[in-house]
This record gives sequence, C-alpha cells and structure tokens, in this order.
Amino acid sequence: MIFSKKTVNLAPLETRQIWIEVRIGPYQLENNLIVAPMAGITDRPFRQLCRRMGAGLAVSEMMSSNPKVWKTDKSMNRMDHSGESGIRSVQIAGADPELMAQAAQFNVDNGAQIIDINMGCPAKKVNKKLAGSALLQYPQLVEEIVQAVVAAVDVPVTLKIRTGWDTDNRNGVEIAKIAERNGIASLAVHGRTRACMYKGEAEYATIRDIKRSISIPVVANGDITSPEKAKQVLEYTGADAIMIGRAAQGRPWIFREIDHYLRTAEHMPAPELSEVQSILMEHLVNLHQFYGEPMGARIARKHVSWYLQAHDQEGQFRRVFNVLETPNEQIEALEQYFKTLAAN
Ligand SMILES: Cc1cc2nc3c(=O)[nH]c(=O)nc-3n(C[C@H](O)[C@H](O)[C@H](O)COP(=O)(O)O)c2cc1C
Repeated sequence: MIFSKKTVNLAPLETRQIWIEVRIGPYQLENNLIVAPMAGITDRPFRQLCRRMGAGLAVSEMMSSNPKVWKTDKSMNRMDHSGESGIRSVQIAGADPELMAQAAQFNVDNGAQIIDINMGCPAKKVNKKLAGSALLQYPQLVEEIVQAVVAAVDVPVTLKIRTGWDTDNRNGVEIAKIAERNGIASLAVHGRTRACMYKGEAEYATIRDIKRSISIPVVANGDITSPEKAKQVLEYTGADAIMIGRAAQGRPWIFREIDHYLRTAEHMPAPELSEVQSILMEHLVNLHQFYGEPMGARIARKHVSWYLQAHDQEGQFRRVFNVLETPNEQIEALEQYFKTLAAN
C-alpha cells in the first residue's frame, strides 16, 4: 500500500496528554494504540504479535452477519480465539438489524469481549448485501442496527465508520451522535469518505468535529505511519486513541515505537536485523500452525513480502520465495536469506 509523502498541516487543537490508557466499557486498555481490523490480515497470529509489540487492542477481521457462512473454513478461522491474550474485539458486518443482533450474540457466545460494528469498509456489498460504509447513507438504518446490536449483548459495542458517504455528504457528526445516544462504547473514524476508497490523504478535520460533538472515546484512523504522525493526529483531532492498519503490515513494532514516543518524546531505535528475523520467523511459524498446509504457507507470502520490502528492494528474493509451497522450504529459504544479509 502506498502512502502519500505530502505532509499535512496539523496544528494542535490544544496541549493535552496524548498517551493515555483508554477505557472501553469495563476494559482498561494498556495504552491508546489499536490495530485496525483488516480482512485477510488481522488473524489471530497477527493480532497476538501486534499486542506483544505494544498495541493496546487488536480488532479481529470482520465476520459476516449471514449465518450461512459461519461454518465455512474462513469463518471458523476468523472465530478462532483459542489462547488469545488481551481483550477479544470481534468485528461484525451486515445491514439487517436482526441478523446483526444474532451475529453479535453468536460471537459473544464464542468468546468476543467487545463487538465492533463495521460501517467503515468501502466495499458496497458484503455477501451481496448493503454493508460497511455504504450504510452511512441511511442514518435511520444505522440507528436500527446499533440499537439491535447494543440490546442483544452484555459486552461493549463499538462502531467503526468513515467520515461520511462522499465528500459532499460528510455526515460523520450525525452518525457519531446516533452512536452515542444508542449506547456505543467507542467510535473509530477513518478520515476518508466511502467514495474516497483509499485514494488521496486522510483528512482529520471531520474527526476533530466528531470528537468535539460527542463524549464517548473517539479513535482516529487513516494514514498514521510514524510516531510523529501519531502525535500530530492525536493533538489535532483531540481523539482519545489512534488505530493503525497498513503501516503495521511487516512492521508490527510500530506500536512500541509510537508508544515510546508518545510517553517520552524520544525515538526508539529501529529493530536490529536479528530482531526483525526473529519476529518474522515467529510470525511465520504461527501462521503455518494456525492455518495448516497448504494455506499457512500461502498466507505467509504477503506478510514475508511486507517485512522484506526494506531489505529486498529489487524483489529478487521475494520472487523465489513466493513459489515455495511448504513450511519447511519457506523457513529454510528465510534462514539462508538472513544469513546472507547479515554477512554482507
Ligand atoms: C487489506 C485491508 C482490509 C481491511 N478490512 C477491513 C475490515 O474488515 N473492516 C474494517 O472496518 N476495515 C477494514 N479495512 C480498513 C482499515 O481498518 C483502516 O480503516 C484503513 O486501512 C485505514 O487505516 P490505515 O491508513 O492505518 O491503513 C481494511 C483495510 C485493508 C488495507
């Protein structure tokens, strides 16, 4: 994923404490850094790794509210929380209030401690139904979904939105008020509209307006790629927490780097090559174990590619790596790769 290099002017709203321990319902997070839900990426191995690397909370990949797909391998993997430490926040997606309520109950029965509603995903349809950020166009339906889900479960319900439907309809403040008055415990806002997809830069002015208009915790999201940007976004928006997605791909240590910077105003040194190797190998083996063969090795390819972007700039090694089919071949190739890199 490419991030714009242009810098945005983010003058702080006020001087305030930016490293805080956020509370969501009864849960006190260890800091205010959250791993964004990313379908196909934030599986249990990645969530666990990001938590160990300093994230206060990691939200699961989205689960469809359509019960017909709950028994597929994909859903079974997404529902697997066994041995997961920390607070289990599970995201659900759909447009039918009744089905969303059932999906929330089902996931709580399966171990979810927080239910997160997806109104942030730009895909127009999930399982051929209106869902994700497309819902922002229908505030009445948003309210019905939120009411149904909040009433269905005893755990905190959080909501993730974009700033609005399109740049002429940034109705994030209206949606935020609906969320607050219907019992949403915290609101994450991606600083793009649905129509923006992932284009251009995230804008934070709407997130700031949202923060000023409600009193539940607000989580700012979009294009946060460094400790400095994290600080700027927290100061500018007044948000309680930030959420990071793409910048953590192949760089899960970004959470400890940001945590350190927010607390001390000092930069943590980048991890040594040997540490990058050990984090990557741990992640790889966990993916192999979690998905089994042949899926584990296939899913590992994209993660390995992200980790190695900085070293293997021409992509020479990655082209070779991406045709390896078995866990052992992948482990051996990476061990050899790091040995060569360390010797040079
Ligand atoms: C591959 C990918 C999958 C995503 N899947 C979801 C999802 O399932 N639910 C959701 O609410 N957002 C999803 N998102 C959006 C992210 O949670 C986040 O809002 C977005 O990437 C902006 O944050 P970032 O700039 O830190 O990446 C996804 C993003 C990516 C790149």
